[in-house]
Amino acid sequence: MATITGLASKRQLNDGNAIPCVGFGVYNTKPGIQTEQALLWALEAGYRHVDTASCYRNEEGVGKALSKTQVPRSDIFVTTKLWDTDQGYEKALAAFDKSIGKLGLDYVDLYLVHSPSPGTKLRLETWKAMEHLKKSGKVKSIGVSNYGVHHLKELLEVCEIKPVVNQVEITPYLARTDIEKFCKEHNIILEAYSPLTMGEKLKDSALVEIANKYNKSTAHILIRWSIQHGYVPLPKSVHQERIVSNTEVFDFEISDEDMNTLDGFDEHFVTEWDPTRYD
Ligand SMILES: NC(=O)c1ccc[n+]([C@@H]2O[C@H](COP(=O)([O-])OP(=O)(O)OC[C@H]3O[C@@H](n4cnc5c(N)ncnc54)[C@H](OP(=O)(O)O)[C@@H]3O)[C@@H](O)[C@H]2O)c1
Repeated sequence: MATITGLASKRQLNDGNAIPCVGFGVYNTKPGIQTEQALLWALEAGYRHVDTASCYRNEEGVGKALSKTQVPRSDIFVTTKLWDTDQGYEKALAAFDKSIGKLGLDYVDLYLVHSPSPGTKLRLETWKAMEHLKKSGKVKSIGVSNYGVHHLKELLEVCEIKPVVNQVEITPYLARTDIEKFCKEHNIILEAYSPLTMGEKLKDSALVEIANKYNKSTAHILIRWSIQHGYVPLPKSVHQERIVSNTEVFDFEISDEDMNTLDGFDEHFVTEWDPTRYD
C-alpha cells in the first residue's frame, strides 16, 4: 500500500496525476443548499476530493461550495460524470460543457463515463470525446464507472488514452475479484462507490464484532477495508457529525486476519444497479 496517512494522501494514477485517497460522495444529496453545506463541512473536515455527476443534479451546489471555501482550487480533486443519455461524440462534448458550466470551473480533475449501458458503438464514440477533453486540458484525467472486465477489454483494445480509474460498487459484501484483478494488472485504480453499503450492512453482527475489536464504528471498518485494499472509497453523508466521523480512519490498521475475515463476507450484495453485467 502507498503511504496513506490522511485524507490528503494521494494514490498515483496511470497518467501521472494523483488522486486523494478518499472522496466525498454527493449522490442523493439534494441540489442547492444541502449539497453546498455538506461539501463545505467535508472540506472543513479535511476531504480534498468530491465525487458528483450530472445525473445527481447537484453540480451547481458543488460549484457554490467550491467558490466559497478558503481551500485553494488546486488542492481539491473534483470528479463529475457523463450520463448515459449523453453518450456519443458530440453529445458528450456538449454535456461536458454543461457540467463544467454548472460547476463554475475552468477544469475538472476527473471526468467519468457513468456507465457502459448504451452499448459498444456509443461507448467507443464517447471515449474519443473523453480523449479529446483530456487533450484540451479541460479535464486532467479520464476514467470509467460501472465497467465490467469485458467493457474494459473492449476499451483497452482501441483506446489511445487508458482510463485512470474504474468506479464500481465494491465492499466486503461485493468483492468483484475479477474486476479487481484486471484493474490491478492494467494499473487502473478502483474507486469504491457505496462503500458504506448505503447504510444497509452497518448493523451486520459479524461486522459489528470486528468494529468492537478496534473500538471503531462499522462505517470506519468499511472505509478502512477499502483503503487497505488500495481502493479510493467515496463515503457520502449529509450530516456534519458523520462527515467528520467518517474521516477517523487513519489511526488504526485492520490486521491481515481480519481483512481475510472481511473478504469472506462476499455475497454479491448489490445496493442499486449493476451495469458491470450489461452487454
Ligand atoms: N458511479 C456510480 O454509479 C455510483 C453509484 C452510487 C454511488 N456513487 C458515488 O459513491 C458515493 C457513495 O455512495 P452512496 O451515496 O451510494 O452510499 P454510501 O456512502 O455507501 O452510504 C451513504 C448512506 O450511509 C449513511 N451514512 C454515512 N455515514 C454514516 C455513518 N458514519 N453512520 C451511519 N450511517 C452513515 C448516509 O446517511 P446520511 O447522508 O443521512 O448521513 C447514507 O444513507 C455517492 O455519493 C456517489 O458519489 C457512484
